[in-house]
Amino acid sequence: MLSLRKVWLRPHLPTGAWHRSCSGGKLKPGVMAQLITGYKNLIVSDSKSLLKKHLTQEIFDKLKSKVTPTFHSSLLDCIQSGLCNVDSGVGIYAPDPEAYTVFADLFDPIIEDYHRGFKKTDKHPEPCFGSGKDFENLDPRNEFIVSTRVRCGRSVQCFPFNPCMTEFEYCELEGMISNALGCLRGQYSGSYMPLAGMQKETQEELINQHFLFKEGDRFLQAANASRFWPAGRGIYFNCDKNFLVWVNEEDHIRVISMEKGGDLGKVYDRMIGGVETLGKFLQFSHDKRLGFLTFCPTNLGTTIRASVHIKLPSLAADKAKLEAIASEHKLQVRGTRGEHTEAEGGIYDISNKRRMGLTEYEAVREMYEGIKALIEAERKLGSARK
Ligand code: ARG
Repeated sequence: MLSLRKVWLRPHLPTGAWHRSCSGGKLKPGVMAQLITGYKNLIVSDSKSLLKKHLTQEIFDKLKSKVTPTFHSSLLDCIQSGLCNVDSGVGIYAPDPEAYTVFADLFDPIIEDYHRGFKKTDKHPEPCFGSGKDFENLDPRNEFIVSTRVRCGRSVQCFPFNPCMTEFEYCELEGMISNALGCLRGQYSGSYMPLAGMQKETQEELINQHFLFKEGDRFLQAANASRFWPAGRGIYFNCDKNFLVWVNEEDHIRVISMEKGGDLGKVYDRMIGGVETLGKFLQFSHDKRLGFLTFCPTNLGTTIRASVHIKLPSLAADKAKLEAIASEHKLQVRGTRGEHTEAEGGIYDISNKRRMGLTEYEAVREMYEGIKALIEAERKLGSARK
């Protein structure tokens, strides 16, 4: 069992688990039938998800009746997003931190697959950010890179993940995080905007500028992660709008540094400074083996996603080559508006894929080397065509 259990349990507040699949520490009537039908449908589907790949009948049978001790989450709470959305790439979330241990027979192989070989016997290294000074501007002549972004995710101790949060807890957590944000100074000082009460036009504008998270993500909704929306959700901006913090979207906190162009070192350093300062005011959930804890297993460990919006017209015409170089450098290629979207005007969102089993510094370096290789390949192809 994860050793922080007593810290997560907050006896003075209800856990909010009543709306989900268990009561009194047991599956509610009908939940087992729902699991069995959902599993059967997944098996006959053409799903390419890691869930389908790793949820064997044997593991399913072993886990189907288990419940996490504190927040009473079941296998259904972990996998219902992947059962409802068979087009998921992954298909599983941890409804509470204990789920990573109780359902380890399923999480571990998925983690190993996604993070390229992080085995169940492996331990994630201690945090080590290093310095952005080692990363030169990836595109000093502004030929390819539209913008650069580095983000990390954090959960706050004593709070469960989305599916177990009550409306009260969302608002309480929002209060704690916005207080901490209010302590930021210098280049980080700015203001917090709650989503509740935000004008629709403002919200849409922020989404189009790639600042704000999208609303109505069906993967999160099916995971029970969008309850009480927009209560407790919001966004913080510094004055230059190059440092942002998302509150209570997929994770309690997402710390984001972004700007136009390819100056990765500068963007990375800004993110480090921000998350380190926030860590002085908030206690983050961290596990000895898994690193920083997040709702989705793809984000565990460093939680770092370093990305560029990049124009690669020649490689776009040779998608197989683009994918081959990306895979060789452990990069992930997404569409312009992030995951589950298409590239618009030949602009891709490309980032490091794995976040576990390496340090923060190494995760960013992996992306840095990979993007350099893509730009080199793009140049070669481009000049061969001329
Ligand atoms: N659950 C979704 C899927 O399996 C998203 C997985 C990773 N992305 C994320 N934002 N956590 O496709």
